[in-house]
Amino acid sequence: MVDKWSRMYAYRSIADWALDGSPVPPPQTVKVLWLDRMRQAAGSTAFVETGTLAGTTSAMMSFCDGLAVHTIEIDERQFVRAKEKLAERPNVTQHLGNSAVILPELVPTLPDRTLFWLDAHCSGDHTGQAETKSVLTQEVALLTTDLTREFVLVLDDARSFNGRAGYPHLDDLLASLRGLSDTYDARTGHDAVTYAPKSVWAAFDAAQYSVNSAPFLA
Ligand SMILES: C[S@@+](CC[C@H](N)C(=O)[O-])C[C@H]1O[C@@H](n2cnc3c(N)ncnc32)[C@H](O)[C@@H]1O
Repeated sequence: MVDKWSRMYAYRSIADWALDGSPVPPPQTVKVLWLDRMRQAAGSTAFVETGTLAGTTSAMMSFCDGLAVHTIEIDERQFVRAKEKLAERPNVTQHLGNSAVILPELVPTLPDRTLFWLDAHCSGDHTGQAETKSVLTQEVALLTTDLTREFVLVLDDARSFNGRAGYPHLDDLLASLRGLSDTYDARTGHDAVTYAPKSVWAAFDAAQYSVNSAPFLA
């Protein structure tokens, strides 16, 4: 259970965002709500985040029962900073390094239907990057190699997908993902592109979600 102040802050940020007309980008709490709904729809038992920063999203997701959480950070200062927050969460494993290098080692150890939050990019002072600001194009190529794994990919920052600095162009990305398989679909929303098997989308569309169903708000 999260502490009452974190819970109140989370509810407040969701309410403020809705009252403001749901601007892009949404606050982190709304992004994590989206991740949690995809987790529930897919029945994911593992979650992988690229780009840990302070560890806030991984900490929130770690409140999901039975979920193994992996988070990858290239910048050692951020890795150490997140360690303080994540040390109390036994189901979280931190990885230090470039996600484009670590993912190929990690993926074979993960269960099918793992949920990925692809959010590794330079975010200004005190954050890092590999050769390019983002490694999203490499990450997506790797994670769509074997579609029998039924991975669910949530690609953050769709508003930045302009074909530069390692980001794909949004239209090209959607066309390429939708062309990969008839059994998957890509949707946009919450400043993200979400790519999942159609069976996961069917479960998502059939579910009745309420804000209270998110474990990090319980
Ligand atoms: C936007 S922040 C991540 C926010 C975090 N995912 C969250 O939801 O709270 C991006 C982070 O990605 C890290 N980063 C940048 N390039 C990376 C790479 N190639 N591999 C791993 N981490 C990377 C940066 O150092 C920064 O801490």
